[in-house]
Amino acid sequence: MGASIYFPQTATIDSCEQLTEKEKFFRLVLPNQAPLGHGPGQFVEVSLFGIGEAPISVSSSPTRNYGFDLCVRATGNVSNALHRLDKGAKVGIRGPFGSQFPVDNMKGKDVLFVAGGLGLIPLRSLIWYVLDKRSEFGKVTILYGCKNPGELLFKDEMKEWEERSDVEFLATVDQGGDAWTGNVGVITTLIPHVEIDPRNTVANVVGPPIMYRFVILDLLARGLDDDQIIVSLERHMKCGIGKCGHCQINGKYVCMDGPVFSYAEIKRLDEAL
Ligand SMILES: Cc1cc2nc3c(=O)[nH]c(=O)nc-3n(C[C@H](O)[C@H](O)[C@H](O)COP(=O)(O)OP(=O)(O)OC[C@H]3O[C@@H](n4cnc5c(N)ncnc54)[C@H](O)[C@@H]3O)c2cc1C
Ligand code: FES
Repeated sequence: MGASIYFPQTATIDSCEQLTEKEKFFRLVLPNQAPLGHGPGQFVEVSLFGIGEAPISVSSSPTRNYGFDLCVRATGNVSNALHRLDKGAKVGIRGPFGSQFPVDNMKGKDVLFVAGGLGLIPLRSLIWYVLDKRSEFGKVTILYGCKNPGELLFKDEMKEWEERSDVEFLATVDQGGDAWTGNVGVITTLIPHVEIDPRNTVANVVGPPIMYRFVILDLLARGLDDDQIIVSLERHMKCGIGKCGHCQINGKYVCMDGPVFSYAEIKRLDEAL
């Protein structure tokens, strides 16, 4: 972590690319190429001087030593202003903050990823962590769903996962189109196509709230226990460090206790999903 949890470090945009109509990718570097020191699942508070600050997931794996990646949907003040920035621009970074995907518990086990829409952004950090240490894990299955093909993120990486013999990758869209030859349907339509060993699988699920409900029900029906299902929650946040209370759900601070929780943990938090 940087010197202070309150004061941003200045990071420079090393490269950036418009991935879809609404999402832009940024690769950032800290002064002297210092590592961010994050784990998969953590987020940073990104600030633009004079505009504001927003929590954004770190999308790159700590196994890569080239700065760190963010992918941002233009929704409001900070994100729209970020979209106007280009290579060489400076932003403020506090963090990394929050809990991490429990990678040590996944070692030796099959790892299932279920990403809906922007859920691929934080999961990408864990996916590359697992693939960079491939021999430490069992079967790797990635399921990814979006509303339409134009919203699919990281298309080059999807192609790589599709071509790898040690990864099972399946994508779906709610609405296809003439050029789309893949599966059409919500993400739960992919689950019957994959083999799941309920005794030896950890499922990591990140997506919109509606997706969690149905995916979790299907995974439980396939025999997974509550503590074998890991999710990442998104809540409105301000400070990111347990001081303001904006992210609180029934006594838990999503910014500090989460955003990554096991389903066993969040079941106890009514209204979490
Ligand atoms: C842990 C975490 C990780 C995240 N990771 C990413 C990521 O990787 N990429 C990404 O694009 N986004 C991510 N987000 C979401 C992002 O932080 C929000 O979209 C953020 O609000 C963007 O800031 P902004 O200033 O651009 O938008 P804002 O000006 O905050 O507005 C964004 C939208 O939210 C609404 N809104 C704002 N505040 C509130 C409120 N208190 N109650 C209800 N509605 C409100 C606004 O009306 C608007 O529609 C993450 C959020 C969390 C908590
Ligand atoms: S965002 Fe302030 S307490 Fe969590």
